[in-house]
Amino acid sequence: MSSKYQNILILTGAGISAESGLATFRSSNGLWNNHRVEDVATIEGFQRNPALVHDFYNDLKKEIQKAKPNPAHLAITKLQKEYPAANISVVTQNVDTLHEKAGNKNVYHIHGQINQAVCLNCGHILETFGDVDTETICPHCEVMGMMKPNIVFFGENLLYMDKVEPLLRQCGLFISIGTSGVVYPAAGFVQTAKYYGADTIEFTLETTNNNYLFDKHVYGKAGETFPQYVEQLIKG
Ligand code: OAD
Repeated sequence: MSSKYQNILILTGAGISAESGLATFRSSNGLWNNHRVEDVATIEGFQRNPALVHDFYNDLKKEIQKAKPNPAHLAITKLQKEYPAANISVVTQNVDTLHEKAGNKNVYHIHGQINQAVCLNCGHILETFGDVDTETICPHCEVMGMMKPNIVFFGENLLYMDKVEPLLRQCGLFISIGTSGVVYPAAGFVQTAKYYGADTIEFTLETTNNNYLFDKHVYGKAGETFPQYVEQLIKG
């Protein structure tokens, strides 16, 4: 079987995890609702009150640990197993671990990962689903109180961009699932992919900010619409 696309890039946002029970950012009961973004998602907020920031992400970590992947995450695994492309990558803005739990491969967490903390003293990355707080000691440099949740805060550089940029240029198909297209640079990825010739399609519940950059739009719950699309793609 020959495939139409040799390289596929799937960009995901909070909407793909909504059906797993995790809040998106900009819905009425959104993740930031009880907190100011400045307090829990900026380096200044972290310096001002690290205990508050740790508490926020420790609570989120517990929520995320309970969540299970939904049919949209599982459809990515199916696509990666059954569609004969050379490369199908997942670039996610989500800090949850549902892509991994679903068995997705080639996942790049450009906004960081909830199950990691980074030492601001030595750069060591600690993998943990346990609580991290102001008294956590870095297992590498043994300094206390320098661990930060490995979440990309506003104003910080995205992770893995050296890997993601070539993927954006190479992909023949760019799929976006559950992201509002508000937060750059991720919101601009579709533009790069399109410039280099990719077909572009988005799966979303509501109109997105950058919808004019997509060739096709599929409205509805990704857990319902995306598995159907994967079946069609595999059938060719
Ligand atoms: P948003 O909350 O901004 O957008 C979620 C998108 O998912 C919206 O377009 C919804 O219409 C759509 N959606 C919701 N439920 C859905 C479902 N069941 N099926 C399909 N689509 C659905 O979340 P993001 O775009 O991920 O950054 O937000 C981007 C970044 O903003 C986040 O990574 C975060 C935040 O600031 C950082 O923390 C650095």
